[in-house]
Amino acid sequence: MEIRCLADEDRDAQFDLRARAFGPMSAADRDRVRPLVEQDYAAGNVLGIFDGARLIASGRYMPIEQWWHGAAVPAGGVASVYVAPEDRGRGVGTRLMTALIELIAERGRPLSVLYPATAPLYRRAGYEHGGAQHWVSFRTEALRSLDGAGREPAGTVKVRRAGPADAAEVVAVVRAVHAAAGDAGPLDRGEAFVRWFLDSPDLFAYLADDGFIAYYWNDDRSGLVVDIAVAGSAATARALWSLVGSGSSTAETVRARISPHDPILWLLRDRTDERVTRSSWMLRIIDAPAAIAARGFPVGVAAEVPLIVHDALRPGNAGSWRLIVAGGRGRLERAPQSAAAVRMTERGLAALYAGVPVATLSRSGLLDGGAPAVLGAAFATTPFMLDDF
Ligand SMILES: CC(C)(COP(=O)(O)OP(=O)(O)OC[C@H]1O[C@@H](n2cnc3c(N)ncnc32)[C@H](O)[C@@H]1OP(=O)(O)O)[C@@H](O)C(=O)NCCC(=O)NCCS
Repeated sequence: MEIRCLADEDRDAQFDLRARAFGPMSAADRDRVRPLVEQDYAAGNVLGIFDGARLIASGRYMPIEQWWHGAAVPAGGVASVYVAPEDRGRGVGTRLMTALIELIAERGRPLSVLYPATAPLYRRAGYEHGGAQHWVSFRTEALRSLDGAGREPAGTVKVRRAGPADAAEVVAVVRAVHAAAGDAGPLDRGEAFVRWFLDSPDLFAYLADDGFIAYYWNDDRSGLVVDIAVAGSAATARALWSLVGSGSSTAETVRARISPHDPILWLLRDRTDERVTRSSWMLRIIDAPAAIAARGFPVGVAAEVPLIVHDALRPGNAGSWRLIVAGGRGRLERAPQSAAAVRMTERGLAALYAGVPVATLSRSGLLDGGAPAVLGAAFATTPFMLDDF
């Protein structure tokens, strides 16, 4: 078996693997993703495993940034993981994941994230459930009576349509909102991706100085789907969401991908019978000291906690550490082993990093030793995601 980066000539074989794993892609969708696929091949971001001349598995690395407590941390998204049906169940998927993790480490990304179709493969590679993508459904009508509506004189918040030419501005506005909110979980996939996204057929996108919303009609035209909505102020949230609410005469429902703490949920007049669906995503720490140094921490928390980490796949993460958190930043320093250390596997470390409460981690066996409350306070957050990949 040989592992190498895929190139243009492997495209049909990769689409065939994809069809066998997730179903065929329409010609229109294939054309639409072509520029992204070409870019991935050219950057050496797609790995393939070959048995002789036959492609038996492939997986894609995406250079992205992920927000952690208001700081953007370089990360490697993992997507398009396929093994040929006749080659499954004999360790090929595990081999592919090991190679992808090495690639992500080589590219200097301290974190990796993915959406698992099945968790065991990724757990075996050191990933653990970190956060979720939340879809909240409510009646469109509810957006017509937002709290404080009418407070701003008409035209106070300037909102305009956004298209591909506005990609740089959209990226800057969304980044500023996530940074100021201290958000955890959302991705920054870069300007080229956002330009491609803004060029999506049937997408309606609007931009304000401190907010952005993009939505489309659902498949049966009974409702609207809000793909992404971020707003830095209540006035902007009202202005952007009112655009969606203005469709209430023809669109009965809204399905919105938002943070579970999105301010819009506090602007709705009523919040009864809310339907929320969650898709879980998993996180892996590729380079623990770099991952800790790059993220933000709550400014009011000061902690010094000895840790012992086990990580067979990334030995640089393993061993005895001292975690120091102060003034909104953190660092991991090598330290002699201490009997008081909190012990964890690489999966425990990933879940801790993602804000899973320490009580949950110890009761699920992901963390050993009486974890001091301050450890949980340092990492506490509810990560979300406004992307699918
Ligand atoms: C998921 C997939 C990539 C696994 O590849 P594979 O070569 O069979 O994986 P491995 O043989 O290395 O198995 C790794 C682990 O995953 C588990 N696993 C594999 N397929 C699984 C499935 N369909 N459901 C649950 N667990 C599965 C194995 O049991 C093994 O876990 P274990 O060691 O605890 O027993 C492959 O089945 C596939 O291509 N499926 C269709 C597409 C897909 O789901 N891709 C993942 C997208 S996120």
